Amino acid sequence: MNVQIAAQSEPQSAIEPQSALPAGLRRLVLTGFMGAGKTTVGLLLAARLGWEFLDLDAYIESRTGLTVPSIFAKHGEPRFRQLESQALASALGRSQVVLALGGGAPEVLTNRLLLEQTPGTTTVFLNAPFPALFDRCMMQALNPAAPVAKPTTEPAPTKPDQPRPLLADPTVAEARFLARQPIYRRLARLTVDTADLSPDETVAALLANLT
Ligand code: S3P
Repeated sequence: MNVQIAAQSEPQSAIEPQSALPAGLRRLVLTGFMGAGKTTVGLLLAARLGWEFLDLDAYIESRTGLTVPSIFAKHGEPRFRQLESQALASALGRSQVVLALGGGAPEVLTNRLLLEQTPGTTTVFLNAPFPALFDRCMMQALNPAAPVAKPTTEPAPTKPDQPRPLLADPTVAEARFLARQPIYRRLARLTVDTADLSPDETVAALLANLT
């Protein structure tokens, strides 16, 4: 069941993540469009839980030795999607992990089945309006060194900000956004509306509403 969450005021220190986690939960998967903050929130969430953080794009890059943009440029999107599914299957073998998906991963049926059928796996949709997401991505592209969020424990490697191949045409990107919205919603047990939330507030809202 999806739960819509508005900004909430509970202070971060009031939450005890480990005791708040549902029994049997072994992985939290963050999904949402490009710019939703999956990596930023995922790092913070993993640090709060004392879990590993894994960014699926960074994992693909470490497995292939190629950046995501170069995979798109040299081999095309279909090949990227194959590599993404293989990486997801491998990533779901881990426990006590926060996994940030690439924005397009849930479009692929194999990936949805993997996520739905791997026991102990809960998917959370980080939602925001398209203009906010697009602006965030453009800001990141213009200022890739800008700090996003400081993890509180040793972070796993994450991909540096890179141009996103699928944002080259804003009209096409918005069409993708609209087509994906119902897919994200159906897949996720929880939807967090992040437009008015800081990354810390997003983590707090997510933890407070996990069932
Ligand atoms: C994509 C999103 C990107 C990356 C690739 C394709 C998409 O990840 O996987 O460029 O199809 O939305 P982020 O959502 O982390 O930017």
